[in-house]
Amino acid sequence: MIKANIEDALNNQINAELYSSYLYLSMSAYFESKSLSGFAKWMAIQSQEEYAHAMKFYSYLIQKGGRAKLAKIDEPKAEWKSILDVFEDTYAHEQKVSASINAIVDLALQEKDHATVSFLNWFVTEQVEEEATAQKLVDDLKLIGDNNNGIFLIDRELGQRVAEAPVEEK
Ligand code: FEO
Repeated sequence: MIKANIEDALNNQINAELYSSYLYLSMSAYFESKSLSGFAKWMAIQSQEEYAHAMKFYSYLIQKGGRAKLAKIDEPKAEWKSILDVFEDTYAHEQKVSASINAIVDLALQEKDHATVSFLNWFVTEQVEEEATAQKLVDDLKLIGDNNNGIFLIDRELGQRVAEAPVEEK
């Protein structure tokens, strides 16, 4: 049986991942409204990945005999100043998610809950990639500035992204 404080932390993370999914879908809708279909597609796939992360937590919690509880998901931001502004928000958001995952690892270590530490390792590694990807996009967008050709090329490149197979849930 899982300890109550770990159960609470995992439930909070389910909410955080669902919020991430909602936020990225909102960013996708923003890009759609600007006719940036490649950016929109990339963000829609990002949103799906976040939903899969939430389900990974959900399934683990149930597998450990815990009770998954779904809380209200906050309304995400809907408008941004620029494409760069969106990705700066993405990077900042992923840093917050990393901090939140690390805090659960700390708690699980404190509780000597080795199964949860092991489960969370996948997310620790995933966050390194998520932060690096967001930071790279921020850097690229700063480099091209207002250059429309550059924006066109990144939009086309991001539009090539294909959804990965759903992450294993158990
Ligand atoms: Fe599930 Fe991007 O953190």
